[in-house]
Amino acid sequence: MKLHTTGSRIPAMSFLLEFLRTPLTVGAVQPSGPALAQVATAAVPATGSPVVLELGPGTGAFTAPIQQRLAGAGRHIAIELNPRFAARLAALHPAVDVVVADAAALRSVLARRNVDHIDVVVSGLPWAAFDASSQNDVLSEVVAAMHPAGVFTTFAYVHARWAPPAQRLLRSLRARFEEVVVSQTVWSNLPPALVYFCRRPIMVTAETG
Ligand SMILES: C[S@@+](CC[C@H](N)C(=O)[O-])C[C@H]1O[C@@H](n2cnc3c(N)ncnc32)[C@H](O)[C@@H]1O
Repeated sequence: MKLHTTGSRIPAMSFLLEFLRTPLTVGAVQPSGPALAQVATAAVPATGSPVVLELGPGTGAFTAPIQQRLAGAGRHIAIELNPRFAARLAALHPAVDVVVADAAALRSVLARRNVDHIDVVVSGLPWAAFDASSQNDVLSEVVAAMHPAGVFTTFAYVHARWAPPAQRLLRSLRARFEEVVVSQTVWSNLPPALVYFCRRPIMVTAETG
């Protein structure tokens, strides 16, 4: 089974359609490819009962490998702003708790579910489309919700790595996590991308943007 295609070209078409509707919110013209998905989800433990939070799952490029790694264990909550993406994802992955919400409200989503910590946060959010304030709101929520030994992963496109929004994101990650490790470039992804693995969250109150 090809998990990344989750049924032919429908994810790619659906993704493009949503990009044409709301380009800034979707933030990319096509879903992440399987190689990037493998790297971005590598921090999800394949043992135990981890609680995994996915932000901006879209058509599910990262959802399927997360589910594969969990293999029925743990918990997988996915927060998606776009209700059409969310409905499609919920139908495809009944084991995933798909919530239509803004990632900036993640702690209230978790509180309603009596979840008090997250082991792994996998983000597919389009950071380049976020202003400094929105970025800080989401990162503050992530840091506050994470288990101290948890991991936060997020990706960036290589071609935009030196642009101001990407630099702002990296500065914010370094201010909020003791360790930020950058993966090798996933050249086979279109466009090529890399993943940040962020560990040991630091609680901060001041804006870091
Ligand atoms: C670049 S796409 C990535 C989708 C998928 N993770 C992938 O890698 O193919 C960004 C996704 O984030 C969602 N999104 C954008 N802003 C969001 C927000 N504030 N809260 C939750 N989801 C958001 C979009 O609707 C879209 O599904």
